[in-house]
Amino acid sequence: MTMFRSIIAGCGSYLPEKIITNKQMEDIVDTTDEWIIERTGITQRHIAADDELTSDLAIRAAEKALANAGLKASDIELIVVATSTPDQTFPATATRVQAGIGMDKGAAFDIQAVCSGFIYALAVADNFIRAGQARHVLVIGAETFSRILDWNDRATCVLFGDGAGAVVLSATTGTGTSSDRGILSTHLHSDGRYNDLLYVDGGVSSTRSTGYLRMKGKEVFRHAVVNLASVVKEALEYNNLGADDIDMVIPHQANKRILDATARKLKMDPAKVAVTVDRHANTSSASIPLALDEMLRQGRIAQGDIVVLEAMGGGFTWGSCLIRW
Ligand code: UT7
Repeated sequence: MTMFRSIIAGCGSYLPEKIITNKQMEDIVDTTDEWIIERTGITQRHIAADDELTSDLAIRAAEKALANAGLKASDIELIVVATSTPDQTFPATATRVQAGIGMDKGAAFDIQAVCSGFIYALAVADNFIRAGQARHVLVIGAETFSRILDWNDRATCVLFGDGAGAVVLSATTGTGTSSDRGILSTHLHSDGRYNDLLYVDGGVSSTRSTGYLRMKGKEVFRHAVVNLASVVKEALEYNNLGADDIDMVIPHQANKRILDATARKLKMDPAKVAVTVDRHANTSSASIPLALDEMLRQGRIAQGDIVVLEAMGGGFTWGSCLIRW
């Protein structure tokens, strides 16, 4: 049966120029380079300039993804931006990106699923393409988490960074079998019973302020390893594939120990797991497209490869996207 499939036609990313190293964090809070590296694998994070907004990072990444795909802004019919740190409460950051790249038709909206946001955005965009409603879609993960960090809380402020990554999804036709190229499946989950383990203690309707990120790290860690391993298994079973068939896993980058523990649980070769958390820290919805862009630039993904993207974040939300490149 002929059907529409989405392929990743282009990818791009952007990191703000300013870097704060772990050593510099020692001057901000009571922490050490050794503690941060041992507990998280993080050595540094990029931080947006005061006048650099989430949309600015998103536009830089989007322009690179468009150039990489060989497309113009006028070819794009839909923009989906995953972010938990929008420029403003409204309008959607996606509409700012739309104006910024010079696109004056189509539709643009934001999605909020915290660190799983990019997977949620990909799933939505893929469904637009499968339904025949769009041929070229820009999917972006962009964040300025530095703005919602409590810089007095050493348990959270050392963990996050700013950045953006973007892909262009383009429609192609396939046979509907797992030998097709493109996105073969997306799986999304959430469980609102865990709202209180990772949240921002402010918001328009509750405190009429922005608030700061709060996290019960140990508990989030425990859930992350279980949920991430199970969502990868779900994707493999759905596509009749085994862990050995995976050529590359691009996980959300929260903590190197989570990446290692998930790979162990899946009995996967750690060399097949993309790692950027050491240099980017946790950039929430931007971490997967940032890592994907790095893997592509390093030539670590070849046509035909099975690539699995997976993430877990506040909500809790978690999900996967399995692609034959
Ligand atoms: O992206 C969304 C998903 N987020 C995550 O996946 C994050 C998941 N959680 C984690 O990555 C880890 O739980 C953390 C990195 C946040 C924390 O690591 P941990 O091994 O779970 O440490 P902990 O929170 O149990 O803290 C251990 C100790 C505590 O001291 P006491 O109570 O044992 O005396 C903390 O106060 O480490 C202390 N501590 C620090 N020490 C130096 C906490 N933060 C710091 C710090 N520097 N920055």
